[in-house]
Amino acid sequence: MSLRPANHFYAPMALGAPEPPRAIPFRPSRMIHFFDPSNAKMAAKAPSIAAKVDVLLGNLEDAVAADKKLDARRGFIEIATAHDFGETQLWTRVNSLDSPWFLDDVTEILAETGGAVDVIMVPKVEGPWDIHYVDRLLAQLEAKNGRTKPVLVHAILETALGVANVEAICGASPRMQGLSLGPADLAASRRMKTTRVGGGHPGYLVRADPGESEAAPRPTAQQDLWHYTVARMVDACAAHGILPYYGPFGDIRDTVATEDQFRNAFLLGCVGAWSLHPVQIGIAKKVFSPPVDEVKWALRVIEAMGDGTGAVMIDGKMQDDATVKQCKVVVDLATLLAERDPELAEAYGL
Ligand code: GLV
Ligand code: MG
Repeated sequence: MSLRPANHFYAPMALGAPEPPRAIPFRPSRMIHFFDPSNAKMAAKAPSIAAKVDVLLGNLEDAVAADKKLDARRGFIEIATAHDFGETQLWTRVNSLDSPWFLDDVTEILAETGGAVDVIMVPKVEGPWDIHYVDRLLAQLEAKNGRTKPVLVHAILETALGVANVEAICGASPRMQGLSLGPADLAASRRMKTTRVGGGHPGYLVRADPGESEAAPRPTAQQDLWHYTVARMVDACAAHGILPYYGPFGDIRDTVATEDQFRNAFLLGCVGAWSLHPVQIGIAKKVFSPPVDEVKWALRVIEAMGDGTGAVMIDGKMQDDATVKQCKVVVDLATLLAERDPELAEAYGL
């Protein structure tokens, strides 16, 4: 038996720990904005950035130098305790399970931040065993620190073994909130030959067949290196009722390709992406909020379909029970985002 039996599944993993959630709440999280809490300038800006993002994340892992790890942890704890971020979620990315910092990251954050931290992002998760360990540890720390709200866990999908075990990772604990694609570590782990952080590659392409004459041009189209993994991640997450995210796009200056990559992820089912620089916040906001014309169309279909059964034609397009469901996905997301964003509410007419 690799999972706890059904009648024990939601029992707290430590005496005195809160019950884990029965369902993962869907809160807006179009962008998970990363900042380095060891960097005093960035830390000072965190409260003002928080007002512009759905999720603010204090990063303790990669991109924080080894001699700054403790400053980053301290800096995050200070920010988490000194500010109330209101509707904006506060997350942290802790160091990996095999690092010398993970244990103290989690122990100190649970001891010192009260209920301020919503989600702990765990990097380099390889299988359900990693989540089981984190689950039990969090329950012990919740019990010890008298926490009443369970902390949720987000795993980064960034090792070949993690991808092989993606369904088991999603189902390993009721705390599992979602997954992010980690294209940099994943590329390295799989020995992919790209040195980019996310996005396509000019060498990864398909070419049109040869024409009649040898001289006829054979156009090529660059393909998406991440299509398979994102699609697999989306299926695993949706099957388990948790949320998939595109991760980082490293070429900050290439805002066009960032938008394309984010949109591919949005269309395939992801709810958000990471923003590594303020310029990516607006891109994620635009891409992960359904377009106004799609929302209006979806409202029209839902209205025309009445009780949602049968079939009608609208502008020459067939609608039936399934298309109503598709339209509800769009309208439900738009409604949720509109509750937080008056500009969107007005644009959608909701
Ligand atoms: C993110 O952590 C990545 O490795 O891409
Ligand atoms: Mg990584």
